[in-house]
Amino acid sequence: MISHHKDSNSIIKISNLTKHYKLGDMSVNALDNISFTVDSGEIVFIMGPSGSGKTTLINLIGGIDHPTSGSIEILGDDIAQYSDKELTLYRKKRLAFVFQFYSLIPTLTARENVELVLELTLRKRKDISKLAEEHLTLVGLEHRMDNFPFQLSGGERQRVAIARALAKSPDILLIDEPTGQLDQKTGNNIVSLIQKIAKEKNKTVLLVTHDQELECYADRVITLRSGQIVSDESKSLFSKTEDGAVSNAANI
Ligand SMILES: Nc1ncnc2c1ncn2[C@@H]1O[C@H](COP(=O)(O)OP(=O)(O)OP(=O)(O)O)[C@@H](O)[C@H]1O
Ligand SMILES: [Mg+2]
Repeated sequence: MISHHKDSNSIIKISNLTKHYKLGDMSVNALDNISFTVDSGEIVFIMGPSGSGKTTLINLIGGIDHPTSGSIEILGDDIAQYSDKELTLYRKKRLAFVFQFYSLIPTLTARENVELVLELTLRKRKDISKLAEEHLTLVGLEHRMDNFPFQLSGGERQRVAIARALAKSPDILLIDEPTGQLDQKTGNNIVSLIQKIAKEKNKTVLLVTHDQELECYADRVITLRSGQIVSDESKSLFSKTEDGAVSNAANI
């Protein structure tokens, strides 16, 4: 981890990040030369219209897609230079993902879904089941641990996905449209839960959403349009800025 002696507490440093997709003769500029940094423990929402590059950005930081150019420094290491093997290790050690469609395995119970991820990194049966139970309890599902996904509501399934993501103790949580399948109230509960746990456990969160009502749970909102950052707004009472041009200055 970066020590507090450094002048910067940044965990993610994106510089001149560009991603072009080739579609036949056409080239799509999914991300166009964007730069920003994220502090450790910060909750950053990524917003913007459909096609603006939000998922592309999450996938690049998540090491599941390669940039066309630019760098993505995670704790000082540029993952854009990583080999596939190094990327796999990086995803395993540092990251957890939550997606819109829960991505639970339907033939495993809530408990087994969480345990499966832990089995990748832990060996002792006792540790695995303890951590799974702890995290399912943390998201309020202690009474549903042995239910299968089809027996759970959408909100409950998303809670399992959050428990699974947190149980492996990632440095960074990447969350793409977690409320897309949920009604407003359930969606609010889910994002409020993510915010509460992230703050308690000092996790860094990048969360993509369309929903303006959820902004109250963010420390900061970055808005993309056509692959560019059009605003970067701190929601902190101390350094509120409405001006995208000053972007990272708000974090110094
Ligand atoms: N694999 C791909 N091949 C070609 N073009 C792609 C690919 N993935 C994304 N794109 C294009 O890149 C642009 C950004 O896509 P992206 O999925 O990042 O948008 P988004 O902001 O997540 O949109 P949404 O809100 O609809 O999920 C879009 O124009 C999209 O069509
Ligand atoms: Mg998307």
